This record gives sequence, structure tokens and C-alpha cells, in this order.
Amino acid sequence: MPATKRDRTYTLQEGCPYGSASTAQRFGDQRPVRGLMLLQDTQLIETLAHFSRERIPERTVHAGAVGAWGELEVTHDNSDITSAAFLNGKGKKSKVLWRLSITGPRPGQYETTRDVRGWAMKIFTEQGNQDFVFNSIPTFFIRDPIKFPSMNRSHKVHPSKNAADPNMFWDFHVNNQEGIHALMMLFSNRGIPANVRQLNGYSGHTYKFTREGTDGFVYVKIHFLTDLGAKGLKLAEAKRLGGLQPSLHTVDMHEHIAQGKFPTWTMYAQVMTAEQAENYRWNVFDMTKVWPHKDFPLRPMAKLTLNKNPENYFSDIEQAAFSPSTMVPGIAASLDPMLQARMFAYPDAARYRVGVNYQQLPCNRPVSHVYAPYERDGAMRYMTNYGSDPSYVNSSLVPVQFDSKIGASGYSIGHDEVISGRVAGYASEVTDDDFEQARGMWHVLGKQGPEEQNDFVVNVVDSLQGVVPSLQTGAIAMFKRVEPALGKAIADALGVN
Ligand code: HEM
Repeated sequence: MPATKRDRTYTLQEGCPYGSASTAQRFGDQRPVRGLMLLQDTQLIETLAHFSRERIPERTVHAGAVGAWGELEVTHDNSDITSAAFLNGKGKKSKVLWRLSITGPRPGQYETTRDVRGWAMKIFTEQGNQDFVFNSIPTFFIRDPIKFPSMNRSHKVHPSKNAADPNMFWDFHVNNQEGIHALMMLFSNRGIPANVRQLNGYSGHTYKFTREGTDGFVYVKIHFLTDLGAKGLKLAEAKRLGGLQPSLHTVDMHEHIAQGKFPTWTMYAQVMTAEQAENYRWNVFDMTKVWPHKDFPLRPMAKLTLNKNPENYFSDIEQAAFSPSTMVPGIAASLDPMLQARMFAYPDAARYRVGVNYQQLPCNRPVSHVYAPYERDGAMRYMTNYGSDPSYVNSSLVPVQFDSKIGASGYSIGHDEVISGRVAGYASEVTDDDFEQARGMWHVLGKQGPEEQNDFVVNVVDSLQGVVPSLQTGAIAMFKRVEPALGKAIADALGVN
């Protein structure tokens, strides 16, 4: 049964009825395959011309994905930390669009690959859209945004081979070791999820939660933990399954939703005051670090349920545009330099990839009132374009009402945050501190059972075995800095002294 009832009487794109969709006009006698095609054949020309233009630019990262619709339901009283309307009032539900992506490979490459998964959510609220653009691991490979394009290229294809190249991958990571904690997560068995229903989404960044009518804020890290239990694949199993079904995760997700077996996640926050952040062991704006749960426990807030497959992948998921800059009152950015850079990069990418009016498309359009008459025209403007309303600010002829307060987040309250200093070039440095949480992760794997540590070594060795000796040595030295026994185990398995 089609999901939508529609009149299926065929027409050309301009609505003109046409008698057949598979004929072409030609001049000649009626013998088969003999005659001249005609320029007057609008149907043929329109069909071929449209086909050549079917693709929009692929996302430079996170191009291959699974998508679904769902809802977020408030399960706890969150009013003491945020006034965001969609997080307040137990039982309150908001519509969600969710896109789970693989970061490096092109779409269509096999899905049981070792890679960080992107977790993008658009929550349609009465105060506008709230996007969460997270990852499946809680830390990241870099903390200096200028390195982002380099890091991603090293994970993607080699410029001349046009295939992934472990030399590039390790060349980047051996020489940018701040990512060691994220590498520990990537090379654990969780680095290849068993399916996309059993993985977690993490903000990684520190955000702020704010409350209307107060000047204060709290810092938060947000977690979506699967209610099914996170599950990864062992390397050999991942290779076998990927060979059998390259689209394993997409098919699994689609079938579960179609059969009414809806996956759910619990949304949690770790909450820290500004004062605690000042004195904390870790810099809260460094996204290569986590906040251990024993220091800042998980506080449940809401439940996410995915319950509807996209009606059409291109219109619902490919054209969807998510951005960390899309935030409702009650949620605000922190000083994390990566987050600040991302707030520029995503709308910029969407304007290029989908077009300047991408927010008007059904998959992106807010369910709330929108009135932004100072952003007008542009390609594919198909909604009202504000008629004859003034296109300039401060008109006394047609006054505009304002609803929010001006403040640090642009539309919400100000925060008690004072910064002083001087303009200078800055790049972070790698220190022993960067290895401490990575070491903790190695011991966590040990507590999960001896197999987990063994598998970690197997996973790293599988990637390192074809790599040039200087990078093998560099990687071994890096893992020795995590834990000498780990570096030695990798060296032994590679046969390197
Ligand atoms: C400076 C750092 C970063 C930059 C410049 C950056 C830039 C980008 C760009 C340009 C895209 C493609 C967007 C599009 O074409 O619509 C993208 C996608 C994405 N990024 Fe990042 N990114 C950064 C770091 C991160 C981090 C730290 C996370 C997670 C915590 C993340 C999660 C994602 C996700 C989930 C997507 C896919 C969004 C979708 O489904 O459309 N990125 N990123």
C-alpha cells in the first residue's frame, strides 16, 4: 500500500496531460528503430535533462546515512536546568527527524565499517527547531577546528589511489596525538556497531542550559543511550556480514520500524555549574575529554522513539540540513572552539549543498511560526517571501513585534561570562594529560573481559599491518604512552621490536 494517496494520472512537469510515458517522437516510417528524433519532444528532453540533474552535492563528510522520523517525550522534570519548552512538562512530545551517518566512506560502501557514526536530530518545537548534531562516541579526534578538513581527508580516500589508505590515517593520528582517547573508542569493538538501533549519541561538546528570567546557566553534556544496550561487532564478523549485505544497517533499521519494533533511547544530561567548571580537573571546552560519570552522573530527561520510515529518502533525509547553530531559547553554545566553528560550517554547507532557502523544505521547515523578512529572495524561494512587508529593519510604517530578550545566545538571556585577553594565534599542544583518559578506557576494556583488550589489539593490528615501518613504530610508541603493555602487544602482533 502506498503511504500517501495521490492522483496518479500522468502529466508532464508543467501539468500538461500526456498519453504515454515511454514513447519518443520521431520522424520516419513505422519500421522499428528507424527514424529521426525530434527537438519538439518535450517529454523526452525533459526526462533526460532532469535525470542529469538528479544529484545534489554530496555531504563532504557523513554522506551515507539511515534516516527515520520519531518523537521525543519528556519523562522528567527538567525545569531547574532549562526553560526550553520541548524539555518541559512530563509527557510532552515533539516530532523528530533523525539521520545516522557513517563519517568517512561514500554512500553505498559497506556499513559494517570501522568509523564514528554521526547522530543528527532535528526536534520540531513550538520555539523553533532544535538540532542535535552529535557522534556515536563521546570524544573527538581533534580540539582545534582548523584540523577538521585534514583529519577527515586522512580518513577518506587517497588523492591518487581513490581508495582508503591506512598510511594516511596513521600519519595523521601519529602526528596529532590529542585524538588518542577517540582512537581508543574507535578501535574497541564498539567502533563497528552491530546495528544502528544499538548505539549511543553523544554531544561531545559542552553546551549551556539556560532558564528564562535568570542570569545563570549550567554546563551540560548530552547523551542518548540506547535502551537496547550498545553492541559492537568483532572484526571478522563485521567483514563477513559486510560482504553478505553492504546495506546491513539500513535494511535492519527499515525492517524493524516497518514491523513496529521501534528503537528507543533515553536522553540524559551531565550537569556542571560554571564554578565547578572553573575548578574541574579537565577543561570543559576540550572535546577530547569526557566528564567521568562518577564526577557528574547521568540525569535522565526524555525518551526518543523512532517510529516511522522516511516516505522518500531524498526528500526526507538527503535534503535534511542539521546544524549545531540551530538552538531554541533555553539551550546555548559554550566557548568550545570546535562548537563555535561548527556553528558556521553547517549552515554554510547547507546553503551550498541544498540552496539558500533550504529551511523552507518540508524536512527542515519549523512547525512553529517563522517571520524573518530580512532574509529574502534567493534561488528556489517558494513560500510567501513576505509579500510587500518592509525588507529593511526598523520600519515605522509596518512595525514588527519582538518576543525574546537580546542576550548572549542572540535570542535568550545573557550570561554572567566575562572574557578578556589579547588576539593571538593558538594551537593546542599534546601533553601526558591527553593519555590519562585513554589509559582509563584501556582499563575499562580490561574490566569488560580479557577478550575486549585482545580484540582491541587485533583491530589496531588489522589496520596497521600494511602501514610503512616508520608509522608502525610511531603508532606503537603512541599506544605505549597509553599503557606500555598495550604498545608491546601491538608490536609483538606486528612482529616489530
Ligand atoms: C570543526 C569541526 C567540524 C566541522 C568543521 C564539521 C563540518 C561538517 C560539515 C561541513 C558537514 C556536512 C554538513 C552538510 O553538508 O549538511 C558535517 C556533517 C556532520 N557532522 Fe561535522 N564537523 C565538525 C565536527 C563534528 C563533531 C565534533 C561532530 C559530533 C560531535 C560532528 C557531527 C556531524 C554529523 C552528525 C554530521 C552529519 C549531519 C547530517 O546528518 O546532515 N561534526 N560536519
